[in-house]
Amino acid sequence: MIGVEHLNVHFGSNHVVRDVSFNVAAGETFGLVGESGSGKSTVLRTIAGLNADWNGTLTVAGKTLGHRRDRAFFKAVQMVFQDPYGSLHPRQTVDRILSEPLEVHGIPDAEARIVRALEEVALPRAARFRYPHQLSGGQRQRVAIARALVADPSVLLLDEPTSALDVSVQAEVLNLLADLREARQLTCILVSHNLAVVAHLCERLAVMQGGRIVEVLTEAQLRAGEARHSHTQDLIALSHELEA
Ligand SMILES: Nc1ncnc2c1ncn2[C@@H]1O[C@H](COP(=O)(O)OP(=O)(O)OP(=O)(O)O)[C@@H](O)[C@H]1O
Ligand SMILES: [Mg+2]
Repeated sequence: MIGVEHLNVHFGSNHVVRDVSFNVAAGETFGLVGESGSGKSTVLRTIAGLNADWNGTLTVAGKTLGHRRDRAFFKAVQMVFQDPYGSLHPRQTVDRILSEPLEVHGIPDAEARIVRALEEVALPRAARFRYPHQLSGGQRQRVAIARALVADPSVLLLDEPTSALDVSVQAEVLNLLADLREARQLTCILVSHNLAVVAHLCERLAVMQGGRIVEVLTEAQLRAGEARHSHTQDLIALSHELEA
């Protein structure tokens, strides 16, 4: 469903993604982990069409992506960011936030779709006419997820979707994402610095360091302690320290 081959991304003279290749099967959730600055968000944002200066081959559903993406791409591929407060327009009600993608893509039945989207992310009906600042952090992230889903995408790109949330809310939002992925047969890439989060949602994951993928392993290999690369082992040790 998603193909990344020999992807390189530059910011000016800074070469931040170096020869990155991986594939994600339809319905699979693929994780990207690695230290801060290793290029995880840049890979995701480049797939999403938010970076201009890249080379390599990107495909979604067998279609090779150019540097300019068409409207069909932006309907099929949606992104959810870390900070729901920053990614939601503060002066728009939830109703407006959810209406916009439907208008952009000329999708009819807005009323029914908005009601359904709110139900899908388990937001109360009353949330529909509230502004982001009138919602909790977890509710705001549910709005961002509803916005991503309202136009029926096939691919969801998730960049640290729970790390700005209170620990008690993180599990709820993760479970919601797991349920939605099942129900909608979504293909996902999940960026997270939290290995437990990645192990919970992903079948396979890639470990990045310094712009490169240093190891790809399955969730089972991760759990069985079969990571080979030292950076993966460092991340595992760090996650155990945080748990303790
Ligand atoms: N828009 C940008 N302009 C210039 N440099 C950027 C830009 N975005 C990212 N970078 C640089 O690219 C490198 C990779 O950043 P990126 O955000 O992809 O890392 P990350 O792995 O997502 O880190 P984190 O875990 O902290 O989110 C960093 O050195 C960063 O400073
Ligand atoms: Mg990032």
